Amino acid sequence: MSKRAFITGVTGQDGSYLAELLLGKGYQVHGLVRRTSSISRSRIDHLHVDAHDPDARFFLHYGDLTDSSRLRDLFAEVEPEEVYNLGAQSHVRVSFDEPVFSVTVDALGALNVLEAVRHMKTPARFYQASSSEMYGKVAAVPQDENTPLHPRSPYACAKVYAHYQTLNYREAYGLFACSGILFNHESPRRGESFVTRKITRAAARIKLGLQNKLYLGNLDAKRDWGYAPDYVEAMWRMLQHPTADDYVVATGETHSVREFLEESFSHLGLKWSSHVEVDPSFERPSEVDILLGDPTKVREVLGWKPRVTFRELARIMVDADLEAARKEAAGL
Ligand code: NAP
Ligand code: GDD
Repeated sequence: MSKRAFITGVTGQDGSYLAELLLGKGYQVHGLVRRTSSISRSRIDHLHVDAHDPDARFFLHYGDLTDSSRLRDLFAEVEPEEVYNLGAQSHVRVSFDEPVFSVTVDALGALNVLEAVRHMKTPARFYQASSSEMYGKVAAVPQDENTPLHPRSPYACAKVYAHYQTLNYREAYGLFACSGILFNHESPRRGESFVTRKITRAAARIKLGLQNKLYLGNLDAKRDWGYAPDYVEAMWRMLQHPTADDYVVATGETHSVREFLEESFSHLGLKWSSHVEVDPSFERPSEVDILLGDPTKVREVLGWKPRVTFRELARIMVDADLEAARKEAAGL
């Protein structure tokens, strides 16, 4: 009998890669999807097979992180052995515009999942998608599992709440509950409004004459950028370890937005400074200036290390966006 996993946020960047990874390992994978007026599941369309097919191992269920009774019913019905809570309003800038919604989904939503796990006949192992944003106004460089938290956005405050509830449920109820403190990770499936994807998509479209300008906010911010398919493997490894714990997942390198621009535009023979303009509306009321993770623990305890370098990451994303821009230019 194959192992059953449940993923919230299965339609997102990480959820789609994690579903692929688990299906490749022989799991039966269940995902939570929101009802929307038009269906947008482009990241997981290739995984979907007819649920009536006797060989089907990928199943989607309507639900929402804010609907606690639905989560309880679903976990009782599916009885997953592993639950990955990846669902979130994940955009930091947007969380300043929609703080109550963001906190409801990202903080209380995580609590709803923890409660639903706690009430299972046999509680599943639980993974919480914590974030390097929790370090915010950083107390030390680099940041590791012991660095104090200083969140700088409604999103980060919500993630801190969910992070501590995960620890609390581990200590109070003995749940096998882990937090992965993941630093930024990107891919061709990254949402188009995050800075890396916004840059690679614009570079490709500028190359093909589909646009001329790119408007950005703070170019000096520094992030520890890795490759999303590498990072979902770390999530899985956390839940296979004999004991539950928290881990920083990062590359151990930091680069500015400016450096990502240079890497992406130069790959296409373009000069970024001829196309980029700063638009203050993309700046945040309070910024996280520098994130740099120390991945020693995840390397030593779980044997995980990143496989894709900063330069390779930018190139993978630019090449994928160039392919998409070619199709757009051809009207396909
Ligand atoms: P993403 O692409 O924005 O995906 C977010 C997912 O959450 C989507 O599937 C979305 O569904 C779902 N979702 C949003 N609100 C929901 C709700 N109320 N109920 C149920 N599902 C909901 O994010 P990601 O980059 O894959 O990140 C995955 C998780 O890791 C998030 O929790 C994020 O905060 C965290 N994280 C990400 C990074 C990173 O660099 N990517 C780093 C650290 C932590 P729809 O498709 O319906 O919108
Ligand atoms: N989105 C965006 N758009 N960011 C910009 C822009 C722009 O036009 N111009 C500059 N930036 C800067 C932001 O101010 C920030 O300092 C940096 O680029 C990265 O922004 P994002 O790509 O939006 O990511 P993030 O670091 O705020 O948050 C991401 O990583 C977190 C982990 O550290 C998200 O994936 C979060 O969900 C995740 O927790």
